[in-house]
Amino acid sequence: MKEFKLPPNLLLGSATAATQIEGGDTNSNWYHWSLAGKIANNESSITGSDHVNQVDGDIKLMKELNQEIYRMSIEWSRIEPQKGYFSAVGIEYYRDELTKLCQAGIKPLVTLHHFSSPQWFQEMGGFVNPESINLFVKFVTKVVIEFGDLVSEYCTINEPNVFLNDTYIDGKYPPGEKNNTIHYFKAAKHLILSHLECYELIHNIRRQKGYNNTMVGFAHHEAYFDVASKNPILKLNRFLLDFSFHKIFLKGMIKGKILFSLFNRYPKRKGVYCDFIGINYYSRHLISLSSNPATFFSKVGLDPQVPAAKLNDLKWEIFPKGLTYSVQKIYHKYRLPIYITENGIPDQNDQKRAKFIYDHLREITTMIHDNIDIRRYYHWSLLDNLEWNDGYGPKFGLIEVNYQTFERTIRESGHFYADIIAHKAVTKEAITKYLK
Ligand code: BGC
Repeated sequence: MKEFKLPPNLLLGSATAATQIEGGDTNSNWYHWSLAGKIANNESSITGSDHVNQVDGDIKLMKELNQEIYRMSIEWSRIEPQKGYFSAVGIEYYRDELTKLCQAGIKPLVTLHHFSSPQWFQEMGGFVNPESINLFVKFVTKVVIEFGDLVSEYCTINEPNVFLNDTYIDGKYPPGEKNNTIHYFKAAKHLILSHLECYELIHNIRRQKGYNNTMVGFAHHEAYFDVASKNPILKLNRFLLDFSFHKIFLKGMIKGKILFSLFNRYPKRKGVYCDFIGINYYSRHLISLSSNPATFFSKVGLDPQVPAAKLNDLKWEIFPKGLTYSVQKIYHKYRLPIYITENGIPDQNDQKRAKFIYDHLREITTMIHDNIDIRRYYHWSLLDNLEWNDGYGPKFGLIEVNYQTFERTIRESGHFYADIIAHKAVTKEAITKYLK
């Protein structure tokens, strides 16, 4: 394994999401989903990783890990626990956290929707309801008015494709609908419209406050789809999946074009609605045939040829080249700055994470040398956390959390990542220490 230098302008840090780490919130739809027994082993979002009580300690750990940037989400149900009622306690909680991050010199990127919503919003039909756009915009307005002085970078929606697929096709996220393609596309339209509105709104509010450094984007999950054979039907399936899972969101959120609407294709002016494109990348997926019309008769799964050494704890293939294929495709089409907003591995024994980080940072470095404008890398995740339906089993953290005591321990791979950030390089010494 070779040492290498990282481009000095690439900022490095980690990412989390509120529901997955905070704990203690009874107003979110994921708390109600937990009560309904929908999380593995009857676990609950009420636990989280106790971040809500450990903000100071967690920021100290971020410093110890030399984090330059931090992607976090603001839980809508903490800010607006009941429709139209904004909570001073919720606002104070985030103001305190954001202030402390800024004082620590860690630049926040705030996600405004990361899979969770207030329960009252869920009961109104979530993003299937056309009213959702206005309701979300009101929440975002409040957030930017309250925190706009501390936060210049915003990610409106996290992974609209995964969110809608798991909510309306796979039935894993609340309200757990299966194969409801109509709801998938309806909610997709409302999410895209919400993003377009918020893009302008965030810029306007901050501009009025005198700030000119606002960056707004969204976090797009890019799954690298491969086909099991040269069968033309599979290639057609890949095209359709790529269209419904990737393309409609990229075109919609970036260009303001609704590809699946016959009328009103550009609901607002033609333009560009992202200052950066966030890309979340994890794995390669193999497409094979199935009998399900809701997924265009295709099934997405694991290539059976992949050896165990290349699998993570959730049996996803570790495939660093897929990051390059995905970023190249998107960058060459849209030519906007790229933030890698998530990339990580569930690895309880911490045997594969250091190499995973090495391989993916190497891909990024090569891409930057090839003139692709990648500016941020957020490792998923800072801490072990609630992996949605899979509960607390999968361990994604650079920092291990003991779920009996909530004690934190930095994993060896976390120290490796800290060393990379300190040197802006993977040194020979670090390779010998952490990768042998
Ligand atoms: C999500 C995270 C999740 C991670 C690992 C992404 O799809 O944004 O919330 O924990 O992947 O599954």
